[in-house]
Amino acid sequence: MAYQVILPAAGQGKRMGAGKNKILLEMNHIPVFIHTLNIFETDDECQGIYLAINPDDEAEVKKLISQYHIRKVQALIYGGTERQYSIFNALKCVKPQGVILVHDAARPFVDQGQIHSLTDAADETGAAILAVPVKDTVKRAEGNMVAETVERSSLWAVQTPQAFRFSLLLDAYQKAERDSYLGTDDSSLVERLGHKVVIVEGNYDNIKLTTPEDLYFAEAIMCKRKEQIKQKGD
Ligand code: CTP
Ligand code: MG
Repeated sequence: MAYQVILPAAGQGKRMGAGKNKILLEMNHIPVFIHTLNIFETDDECQGIYLAINPDDEAEVKKLISQYHIRKVQALIYGGTERQYSIFNALKCVKPQGVILVHDAARPFVDQGQIHSLTDAADETGAAILAVPVKDTVKRAEGNMVAETVERSSLWAVQTPQAFRFSLLLDAYQKAERDSYLGTDDSSLVERLGHKVVIVEGNYDNIKLTTPEDLYFAEAIMCKRKEQIKQKGD
Protein backbone atom coordinates (compact mmCIF):
# COMPACT_ATOMS: atom_id res chain seq x y z
CA MET A 1 0.00 0.00 0.00
CA ALA A 2 1.61 3.26 -1.14
CA TYR A 3 1.80 6.01 1.47
CA GLN A 4 3.38 9.36 2.31
CA VAL A 5 4.97 9.98 5.70
CA ILE A 6 5.21 13.01 7.98
CA LEU A 7 8.15 12.87 10.39
CA PRO A 8 7.95 15.38 13.24
CA ALA A 9 11.55 16.25 14.20
CA ALA A 10 11.02 19.84 15.31
CA GLY A 11 11.27 19.37 19.08
CA GLN A 12 14.02 20.45 21.41
CA GLY A 13 14.64 17.20 23.27
CA LYS A 14 14.44 18.87 26.67
CA ARG A 15 14.00 15.62 28.63
CA MET A 16 17.06 14.13 26.91
CA GLY A 17 19.10 17.06 28.23
CA ALA A 18 21.75 16.71 25.51
CA GLY A 19 22.05 20.45 24.89
CA LYS A 20 20.71 19.95 21.36
CA ASN A 21 17.76 18.35 19.60
CA LYS A 22 17.95 14.61 20.43
CA ILE A 23 17.25 13.64 16.81
CA LEU A 24 20.79 14.86 16.01
CA LEU A 25 22.43 12.55 18.58
CA GLU A 26 24.35 9.67 17.05
CA MET A 27 23.73 5.93 17.36
CA ASN A 28 26.50 3.86 15.78
CA HIS A 29 27.98 7.13 14.44
CA ILE A 30 24.80 7.95 12.49
CA PRO A 31 22.31 10.62 13.64
CA VAL A 32 19.04 9.27 15.05
CA PHE A 33 16.85 10.98 12.45
CA ILE A 34 18.96 9.54 9.61
CA HIS A 35 18.29 6.03 10.98
CA THR A 36 14.57 6.87 10.92
CA LEU A 37 14.71 8.43 7.44
CA ASN A 38 16.51 5.36 6.09
CA ILE A 39 13.63 3.07 7.09
CA PHE A 40 11.35 5.06 4.74
CA GLU A 41 14.01 5.77 2.10
CA THR A 42 14.45 2.01 1.60
CA ASP A 43 10.73 1.15 1.68
CA ASP A 44 9.38 0.91 -1.90
CA GLU A 45 5.86 1.72 -0.68
CA CYS A 46 6.94 5.11 0.68
CA GLN A 47 6.16 7.79 -1.91
CA GLY A 48 7.50 10.84 -0.09
CA ILE A 49 8.82 12.09 3.24
CA TYR A 50 7.81 15.44 4.83
CA LEU A 51 10.16 16.39 7.64
CA ALA A 52 9.09 18.97 10.25
CA ILE A 53 12.20 20.64 11.60
CA ASN A 54 13.28 23.17 14.16
CA PRO A 55 14.62 26.23 12.24
CA ASP A 56 17.71 26.15 14.50
CA ASP A 57 18.59 22.72 13.03
CA GLU A 58 17.97 23.57 9.37
CA ALA A 59 21.56 23.89 8.19
CA GLU A 60 22.68 20.69 9.93
CA VAL A 61 19.63 18.70 8.83
CA LYS A 62 20.12 19.78 5.19
CA LYS A 63 23.81 18.85 5.30
CA LEU A 64 23.10 15.41 6.76
CA ILE A 65 20.28 14.62 4.31
CA SER A 66 22.66 15.33 1.47
CA GLN A 67 25.59 13.48 3.09
CA TYR A 68 23.50 10.31 3.61
CA HIS A 69 21.92 10.51 0.14
CA ILE A 70 18.33 10.66 1.35
CA ARG A 71 16.29 11.34 -1.79
CA LYS A 72 12.66 10.97 -0.76
CA VAL A 73 12.43 14.12 1.37
CA GLN A 74 9.92 16.28 -0.53
CA ALA A 75 9.98 19.22 1.87
CA LEU A 76 11.47 20.49 5.10
CA ILE A 77 8.74 22.28 7.00
CA TYR A 78 9.24 24.53 10.00
CA GLY A 79 7.61 23.02 13.06
CA GLY A 80 5.57 24.81 15.71
CA THR A 81 5.74 25.10 19.48
CA GLU A 82 3.84 21.80 19.94
CA ARG A 83 4.21 18.47 18.12
CA GLN A 84 0.61 18.80 16.88
CA TYR A 85 1.36 22.18 15.26
CA SER A 86 4.49 20.76 13.60
CA ILE A 87 2.46 17.95 12.07
CA PHE A 88 -0.35 20.27 10.95
CA ASN A 89 2.20 22.47 9.15
CA ALA A 90 3.52 19.39 7.34
CA LEU A 91 0.03 18.05 6.59
CA LYS A 92 -0.69 21.22 4.61
CA CYS A 93 2.25 20.33 2.30
CA VAL A 94 1.59 16.64 1.54
CA LYS A 95 -0.17 15.55 -1.64
CA PRO A 96 -3.89 15.40 -0.69
CA GLN A 97 -4.38 11.70 -1.41
CA GLY A 98 -4.10 8.15 -0.09
CA VAL A 99 -2.72 7.05 3.25
CA ILE A 100 -0.60 9.36 5.42
CA LEU A 101 1.66 8.01 8.12
CA VAL A 102 2.82 10.11 11.06
CA HIS A 103 5.98 8.83 12.74
CA ASP A 104 8.23 10.42 15.36
CA ALA A 105 11.74 11.04 14.03
CA ALA A 106 12.86 10.03 17.53
CA ARG A 107 11.67 6.37 16.99
CA PRO A 108 14.42 4.84 14.85
CA PHE A 109 13.52 1.15 15.32
CA VAL A 110 10.14 0.64 13.63
CA ASP A 111 10.20 -2.18 11.10
CA GLN A 112 8.88 -2.10 7.56
CA GLY A 113 6.64 -5.16 8.04
CA GLN A 114 4.74 -3.32 10.77
CA ILE A 115 4.50 -0.18 8.65
CA HIS A 116 2.86 -2.27 5.92
CA SER A 117 0.37 -3.92 8.32
CA LEU A 118 -0.55 -0.47 9.54
CA THR A 119 -0.97 1.15 6.12
CA ASP A 120 -3.11 -1.81 4.93
CA ALA A 121 -5.35 -1.40 8.00
CA ALA A 122 -5.62 2.38 7.45
CA ASP A 123 -6.48 1.87 3.78
CA GLU A 124 -9.30 -0.50 4.79
CA THR A 125 -10.70 1.33 7.80
CA GLY A 126 -9.40 4.93 7.66
CA ALA A 127 -7.30 4.93 10.83
CA ALA A 128 -4.82 2.55 12.47
CA ILE A 129 -2.18 2.85 15.19
CA LEU A 130 0.68 0.71 16.48
CA ALA A 131 0.53 -0.17 20.16
CA VAL A 132 1.85 -2.77 22.61
CA PRO A 133 0.12 -4.33 25.63
CA VAL A 134 0.97 -2.47 28.86
CA LYS A 135 3.32 -4.60 31.01
CA ASP A 136 3.11 -2.74 34.31
CA THR A 137 0.18 -2.58 36.69
CA VAL A 138 -1.31 0.88 36.26
CA LYS A 139 -2.98 2.84 39.05
CA ARG A 140 -4.94 6.03 38.89
CA ALA A 141 -3.99 8.43 41.68
CA GLU A 142 -5.45 11.42 43.43
CA GLY A 143 -2.45 13.37 44.70
CA ASN A 144 -0.09 10.65 45.96
CA MET A 145 -2.92 8.35 47.01
CA VAL A 146 -4.10 5.41 44.93
CA ALA A 147 -7.64 6.01 43.70
CA GLU A 148 -7.98 2.74 41.77
CA THR A 149 -6.15 -0.06 40.01
CA VAL A 150 -6.95 0.08 36.32
CA GLU A 151 -7.79 -3.23 34.60
CA ARG A 152 -4.61 -3.96 32.68
CA SER A 153 -5.90 -6.39 30.08
CA SER A 154 -7.57 -3.57 28.15
CA LEU A 155 -4.60 -1.15 28.27
CA TRP A 156 -2.28 -0.49 25.36
CA ALA A 157 0.83 1.73 25.21
CA VAL A 158 0.53 3.64 21.98
CA GLN A 159 3.43 4.23 19.60
CA THR A 160 3.96 5.76 16.21
CA PRO A 161 3.60 5.29 13.29
CA GLN A 162 -0.08 6.10 13.16
CA ALA A 163 -1.75 5.87 9.73
CA PHE A 164 -4.83 7.60 8.34
CA ARG A 165 -6.64 8.34 5.12
CA PHE A 166 -5.54 11.85 4.15
CA SER A 167 -9.04 13.39 4.19
CA LEU A 168 -9.82 11.98 7.64
CA LEU A 169 -6.57 13.25 9.15
CA LEU A 170 -7.08 16.70 7.62
CA ASP A 171 -10.65 16.87 9.01
CA ALA A 172 -9.33 15.84 12.43
CA TYR A 173 -6.59 18.48 12.45
CA GLN A 174 -8.96 21.22 11.24
CA LYS A 175 -11.50 20.36 13.95
CA ALA A 176 -8.77 20.31 16.62
CA GLU A 177 -7.67 23.78 15.49
CA ARG A 178 -11.25 25.11 15.56
CA ASP A 179 -11.77 23.71 19.08
CA SER A 180 -8.26 24.69 20.33
CA TYR A 181 -7.83 21.01 21.24
CA LEU A 182 -4.31 19.80 21.90
CA GLY A 183 -3.93 16.01 21.91
CA THR A 184 -0.93 13.88 22.81
CA ASP A 185 -1.17 11.82 19.63
CA ASP A 186 -2.77 12.00 16.17
CA SER A 187 -5.27 9.25 16.86
CA SER A 188 -6.88 11.27 19.66
CA LEU A 189 -7.78 13.98 17.12
CA VAL A 190 -9.41 11.39 14.84
CA GLU A 191 -11.23 9.78 17.80
CA ARG A 192 -12.84 13.19 18.49
CA LEU A 193 -14.53 12.96 15.09
CA GLY A 194 -16.21 9.77 16.30
CA HIS A 195 -14.19 7.69 13.84
CA LYS A 196 -13.04 4.19 14.88
CA VAL A 197 -9.29 3.57 15.13
CA VAL A 198 -7.85 0.06 14.71
CA ILE A 199 -4.99 -1.13 16.96
CA VAL A 200 -2.24 -3.10 15.22
CA GLU A 201 -0.04 -4.92 17.73
CA GLY A 202 3.49 -3.51 17.56
CA ASN A 203 6.85 -4.44 18.94
CA TYR A 204 8.50 -3.43 22.23
CA ASP A 205 11.69 -2.49 20.31
CA ASN A 206 9.93 0.50 18.75
CA ILE A 207 10.97 2.85 21.56
CA LYS A 208 10.96 6.63 21.46
CA LEU A 209 14.24 8.16 22.56
CA THR A 210 13.01 10.46 25.31
CA THR A 211 15.33 10.43 28.37
CA PRO A 212 19.07 9.60 28.62
CA GLU A 213 18.53 5.95 29.70
CA ASP A 214 16.70 5.32 26.40
CA LEU A 215 20.12 5.60 24.72
CA TYR A 216 21.22 2.47 26.63
CA PHE A 217 18.11 0.62 25.49
CA ALA A 218 18.81 1.79 21.94
CA GLU A 219 22.34 0.43 22.11
CA ALA A 220 21.01 -2.93 23.34
CA ILE A 221 18.46 -3.10 20.49
CA MET A 222 21.18 -2.33 17.95
CA CYS A 223 23.44 -5.06 19.42
CA LYS A 224 20.57 -7.57 19.25
CA ARG A 225 19.89 -6.69 15.60
CA LYS A 226 23.58 -6.95 14.64
CA GLU A 227 23.70 -10.38 16.32
CA GLN A 228 20.57 -11.49 14.40
CA ILE A 229 22.11 -10.36 11.08
CA LYS A 230 25.34 -12.20 11.94
CA GLN A 231 23.44 -15.41 12.80
CA LYS A 232 21.50 -15.24 9.50
CA GLY A 233 24.82 -14.93 7.65
CA ASP A 234 26.38 -17.96 9.46
N1 CTP B 1 8.26 17.36 17.87
C1 CTP B 1 7.99 18.29 16.86
N2 CTP B 1 7.60 19.56 17.20
C2 CTP B 1 7.45 19.92 18.49
C3 CTP B 1 7.70 18.99 19.52
C4 CTP B 1 8.10 17.70 19.17
O1 CTP B 1 8.11 17.96 15.68
N3 CTP B 1 7.08 21.18 18.78
C5 CTP B 1 8.74 16.00 17.51
C6 CTP B 1 10.06 15.62 18.18
O2 CTP B 1 11.16 16.13 17.42
C7 CTP B 1 9.99 14.11 18.25
C8 CTP B 1 8.48 13.82 18.31
O3 CTP B 1 7.80 15.04 17.95
O4 CTP B 1 10.53 13.48 17.10
C9 CTP B 1 8.04 13.34 19.67
O5 CTP B 1 8.16 14.38 20.63
P1 CTP B 1 9.02 14.31 21.96
O6 CTP B 1 9.52 12.93 22.21
O7 CTP B 1 8.26 14.99 23.04
O8 CTP B 1 10.33 15.18 21.56
P2 CTP B 1 10.76 16.60 22.09
O9 CTP B 1 9.57 17.49 22.19
O10 CTP B 1 11.90 17.03 21.24
O11 CTP B 1 11.32 16.23 23.55
P3 CTP B 1 10.96 16.96 24.94
O12 CTP B 1 9.44 16.87 25.07
O13 CTP B 1 11.69 16.17 25.96
O14 CTP B 1 11.45 18.39 24.82
MG1 MG C 1 7.94 17.01 23.51
